[in-house]
Amino acid sequence: MANTGFTLWFTGLSGAGKSTLSEAIEKRLQQHGRNVEILDGDIVRTHLSKGLGFSREDRDTNIKRIAFVCSLLTRNGVVCISAAIAPYREARDWARHEIGNFVEVYVKCPIDVCRQRDVKGLYKLVDEGKLKGFTGVDDPYEEPEYPELIIETDKETLDESVTHILNKLVELGYLDPTYLEETADVR
Ligand code: ADX
Repeated sequence: MANTGFTLWFTGLSGAGKSTLSEAIEKRLQQHGRNVEILDGDIVRTHLSKGLGFSREDRDTNIKRIAFVCSLLTRNGVVCISAAIAPYREARDWARHEIGNFVEVYVKCPIDVCRQRDVKGLYKLVDEGKLKGFTGVDDPYEEPEYPELIIETDKETLDESVTHILNKLVELGYLDPTYLEETADVR
């Protein structure tokens, strides 16, 4: 089990907390010497998926590209973390099938809370009518039916969420229990 690669696949609305969780988990795993790669939607869209928009077709293409990279890294022992909205169930299921060692985590947060957080100022643009086709507002988000884990970021602290995720990864056999022991310099 020591260095089994796997993909931690976050899905959820913009502002739900996918990137924050990804970075926190990355830090914990790196403390144990693991190679970790985050594929964050915003970053992927400036490189691998540059030029793609937000139609269903483009979102599906984006997710398939992310899944392809995750599959390559995962089979080489890397921990891959996908932090894209990934709004369509079919594309997520395609990713699950393609990757194999796949842990789907629904980062759940009511849209009103995401709107209040509005980290990137995009919900403001949506409300002003300057941004159309926004996930959860006037574009679909299909909730996962059978995710391995649901994290409700409006109800638990970041530390609690990280613990829940690590517990699940241990339970599924992807990590050994030493990962639950916090090292001194977490942050
Ligand atoms: S996905 O649907 O293809 O999975 P992805 O995670 O890569 O989306 O990109 C989402 C990010 O793009 C959001 O966090 C936000 O910063 C930005 N964005 C810009 N326009 C939209 C839109 N119409 N819907 C959702 N996100 C958008």
